[in-house]
Amino acid sequence: MTDLHQTTLPEGKIPQLRVMPMPADANVHGDVFGGWIMAQVDIAGSLPAVRRANGRVATIAVNSFVFKQPVFVGDLLSFYAEVVRVGNTSITVNVEVYAERNRLQVETVKVTEATLTYVATDEARKPRQIPPLAP
Ligand SMILES: CC(C)(COP(=O)(O)OP(=O)(O)OC[C@H]1O[C@@H](n2cnc3c(N)ncnc32)[C@H](O)[C@@H]1OP(=O)(O)O)[C@@H](O)C(=O)NCCC(=O)NCCS
Repeated sequence: MTDLHQTTLPEGKIPQLRVMPMPADANVHGDVFGGWIMAQVDIAGSLPAVRRANGRVATIAVNSFVFKQPVFVGDLLSFYAEVVRVGNTSITVNVEVYAERNRLQVETVKVTEATLTYVATDEARKPRQIPPLAP
């Protein structure tokens, strides 16, 4: 039977993070705990934000977060993240998560979509201006 949710990994893009959830990351039903996925999304999203900010950032907001499909222990998760907005001190990043499961038959499912905002901070943890892009 064809799985309507089945897809492929985004072509030509490199994931910021790839990780496999373990049994310790499961909820009481045996599926992966949403809070664990949120933590990985926050890490993945911070990577392009830190690069763009050329230094430390703090997460100020999770603007949206959709768990489209469940994640299972043993799925190989790929986190794709890209900057979608740069403000004075803030950077907004979209994160998409794909699961490769049942690897003998290569089944790929998009499991999560999120948008997060990070603020560039100085050594006193106060907001600082995002530097211009290097020419
Ligand atoms: C990040 C922090 C230093 C920002 O300081 P602040 O005084 O609240 O910041 P400001 O009100 O000046 O806003 C800074 C930027 O964030 C944006 N922002 C503020 N609230 C926001 C929200 N709810 N959603 C999206 N962006 C938001 C502002 O628009 C501004 O962006 P801009 O400069 O590009 O226009 C401070 O809020 C903080 O330390 N928060 C805790 C961070 C943290 O610990 N995160 C880890 C999770 S526990």
